Amino acid sequence: MLKKIECFLQPSKLDEIKNELVEMGVGGMSASEVKGFGTQRGYLEGEVPNKEVKFLPKIKVEIVVDEEIVDDIIKKIRELCFSRTIGAGKIFVLPVEDAVRIRTAEVGKRAIY
Ligand SMILES: Nc1ncnc2c1ncn2[C@@H]1O[C@H](COP(=O)(O)OP(=O)(O)OP(=O)(O)O)[C@@H](O)[C@H]1O
Ligand SMILES: [Mg+2]
Repeated sequence: MLKKIECFLQPSKLDEIKNELVEMGVGGMSASEVKGFGTQRGYLEGEVPNKEVKFLPKIKVEIVVDEEIVDDIIKKIRELCFSRTIGAGKIFVLPVEDAVRIRTAEVGKRAIY
């Protein structure tokens, strides 16, 4: 079964994530600049929140992998992004119906690796 790991991280982590995950054997990855907020509604540590909700710059990383390596990937992302400071990020895991490599028509795991 294929799973998608979709995570929202501090932008400064992208380069290291990219290199480490390739070493772990991921078949591909997408990254985009997004804005988001979590439970602090966009306020940083030490800031006094008011009613306004704020967006902070984040990077969204999407990786489709075989379910067997999901736990290892999550562990690695946590290792690289861990901080006791709020806003270190969040990881979601989603089921993937199928994947198709357009060039060859391969599907499923074969389309990924
Ligand atoms: N429920 C959610 N749905 C979609 N995106 C989310 C959700 N929660 C967080 N995000 C995304 O993840 C980013 C990082 O979230 P963040 O690390 O601040 O989570 P948190 O739950 O507030 O944890 P912490 O208390 O450590 O800050 C957010 O800026 C947002 O882009
Ligand atoms: Mg937060």
